[in-house]
Amino acid sequence: MAASSLLLPLLLLFPLLPPMAESKLTPNYYDKTCPNFAKIVQETVVDKQLAVPSTAAGTLRLFFHDCVVGGCDASLLLNSNPLTSTAERDHDINKALPGDAFDVIIRTKTKLELICPGIVSCADIIAEATRDLVSMVGGPYYPVRLGRKDSFQSHASDVEGHVARGNMSISRIIEIFAAKGFNVQEMVALTGAHTIGFAHCSEFANRIFDPVDPTLNPAYAQGLQKLCANYKTDPTMAAFFDPMSPSKFDNMYYVNLKNGVALLSSDQAMALDPRTKPFVDLYAANQTAFFEAFTHAMLKVSVLDIKTGRQGEVRRRCDLPNSLQKN
Ligand code: HEM
Ligand SMILES: *[C@@H]1O[C@H](CO)[C@@H](O)[C@H](O)[C@H]1NC(C)=O
Ligand SMILES: *[C@@H]1O[C@H](CO)[C@@H](O)[C@H](O)[C@H]1NC(C)=O
Repeated sequence: MAASSLLLPLLLLFPLLPPMAESKLTPNYYDKTCPNFAKIVQETVVDKQLAVPSTAAGTLRLFFHDCVVGGCDASLLLNSNPLTSTAERDHDINKALPGDAFDVIIRTKTKLELICPGIVSCADIIAEATRDLVSMVGGPYYPVRLGRKDSFQSHASDVEGHVARGNMSISRIIEIFAAKGFNVQEMVALTGAHTIGFAHCSEFANRIFDPVDPTLNPAYAQGLQKLCANYKTDPTMAAFFDPMSPSKFDNMYYVNLKNGVALLSSDQAMALDPRTKPFVDLYAANQTAFFEAFTHAMLKVSVLDIKTGRQGEVRRRCDLPNSLQKN
């Protein structure tokens, strides 16, 4: 009998089963092997966020960029290896990820290695720390399932095309998210992450100097021109995505978009394009609806192409595969 005639009825019977790897994740993964996992992550993250308030936004972005490039496998934490390849973190899209986002993961890992060596993956730390940070700054709290393994490798050449840029058209951005299984509503909800954090002037300079983008709120455009006047000589200049409540995770990002207060042209386009506007309107009017949609979409992000079993390893150091570590 042909194999396909067996497979077809099986596929019809179980169309709703999640992929195998994902179904192996469980919220209790470390209950026996590292019972203090959640507590250690929580404590470290709170200390770091209180000391450096930009940590939450940086870590949320780091998590997203790790997951959409080859899965949530901490490949973004690996250092470039001069002998083999340039790593994801050295791709220009990731260059602006703040050192404090990497630092909070490394600090957590260091503490966990002391109490349960070789047990907790860097990928699980990123997922758990991101959830803790999002809820700490006012966002929703959602359950994180655990058991991800870390990748063996990381290649900058894998990044292009998986991460949207602020000057891409909405059509292109919809395509990029669709390729990961996200519909337009999920895409709009996820990008609500821009309710915290900032972008460097170079990311939106083309909208604020002549000609000024007519979709920009004029007073806001003037403020940005002042802020970014010297951005070429001082490339560290940056503006908050949400000037109303820059460090609070809320739905103000969507309210701002409707008022022409948007940093990136991709942000502004979401409030104008007929495919995305209904969701911007919904989330601007109803924060509960935004939090529910964000939670649902983040849970999807957190299981993208995860590695389990022998597809990966638990790295002893997050920046090096075990094969390159000396004991
Ligand atoms: C429409 C698609 C998106 C585009 C075009 C985009 C683009 C950008 C750009 C250009 C920056 C500024 C980087 C810099 O100058 O330092 C940024 C920052 C940020 N992005 Fe996105 N992004 C998108 C979606 C997302 C998603 C889905 C998330 C997470 C779920 C996210 C989270 C963040 C966060 C938190 C920051 C602030 C980082 C910080 O303050 O360190 N973005 N994004
Ligand atoms: C979009 O921005 C990138 C840098 O982020 C730049 O390399 C590229 O040329 C820009 N594309 C357009 C069409 O402006
Ligand atoms: C806001 O959204 C929530 C969740 O979807 C819903 O239960 C609630 O009825 C909405 N509130 C209003 C005022 O529409």
